[in-house]
Amino acid sequence: MNDRLIKACRREETDATPVWFMRQAGRFLPEYRKIRVKHDLVEICKDPELCAKVSTLPVETLDVDAAILFSDIMLPLEGMGVKFEIEEGIGPVIKKPVQNFENANSLTPLQPKADLPYILEAISATKKKLDSQVPLIGFCGAPFTLASYLIEGHATREFVKTKRLMYNDPKTWHLLMENLSTSMALYLREQIKAGVDVIQVFDSWVGCLGPQDYHRYVLPYSHKIFNRLRDTDTHTIHFGTGTANLLEEMKQAGGDVIGVDWRIPIDTAWRRIGYDVAIQGNLDPVVLLADIDLVKSHTADILKRVQGRRGHIFNLGHGILPNTPKQNVADLVRFVHEHTREK
Ligand code: CP3
Repeated sequence: MNDRLIKACRREETDATPVWFMRQAGRFLPEYRKIRVKHDLVEICKDPELCAKVSTLPVETLDVDAAILFSDIMLPLEGMGVKFEIEEGIGPVIKKPVQNFENANSLTPLQPKADLPYILEAISATKKKLDSQVPLIGFCGAPFTLASYLIEGHATREFVKTKRLMYNDPKTWHLLMENLSTSMALYLREQIKAGVDVIQVFDSWVGCLGPQDYHRYVLPYSHKIFNRLRDTDTHTIHFGTGTANLLEEMKQAGGDVIGVDWRIPIDTAWRRIGYDVAIQGNLDPVVLLADIDLVKSHTADILKRVQGRRGHIFNLGHGILPNTPKQNVADLVRFVHEHTREK
């Protein structure tokens, strides 16, 4: 197996820097858009063969060093009794947002095998289709990011309802975070049993908090998830955006690899996090919409700042945008591999 990603998670020497992209199995791929004409997102997620097909597309056509499970962070919430839809261009929309203690208390603990058999089957089908070419990344939403969808009911910029509940009704907040972290830890353990090689925890929206609030309201729950995976030998990536001021706290919560977006130079971020963890990120996804020369100069700058240090996983600071030219992505992968080979 191409084990660049695993080796980078362990901060071991690699023959070239591993590259993969968040949202690499998505709408920027014409092959995915073709499948989406006939099936909606949740339909694809519930069909293990289709998941396997979509998840392996970028491996076959882009030479990336990992596949990511085709699923969504919202699906396990269905098993906890939450009703939602994923609307195109908007994201998840929750039917009855969590507003009070009773709502938080009525979430049922996830039973991954009974509630999400199709996801575990998708993992087996994807592993089989990958045929040991590259590792498979499993994932879940972090408790804060899931809680923010549950409380707001949809995507937001300000997170006013989420923070209001967190500040005004800490009992409900802590119950909700406790329920989510317990269920996500079980979910990830089942994904690992089903065959995923690496885990990424997506805390996409936690950057709206300051470090003190992160420490008090989020860290114990994210930490619990990483802690409950410690007896597995699976490597973990802890991702967030807008987290330049939370990096030390995120490291404390856990993860062999910390994800960083483009709002901080990668060398500054790594120095702050410490060289005893690996790092992933940091190209702005919008750069990939520009001319390939600009893509290459931004990429060269990241590689220069990393200086060939062990433990770098090349990725964007957030997901690939739907209108990204596929050729730019393929050229970027080649550029990273060529410029880091035999470093
Ligand atoms: O390549 C991959 O990463 C595929 C697997 C994947 C999906 N969602 C499929 C998907 C992963 C890892 C996710 C994670 C996810 N889902 C996150 C965390 C990562 C991040 O981007 O911050 C979040 C916050 C969600 C919730 C969600 N689902 C959003 C915000 C959206 C986008 C809405 C839109 O239309 O722009 C979705 C929908 C979604 N999930 C799509 C895919 C491929 C695109 C929608 C489609 O095909 O209709």
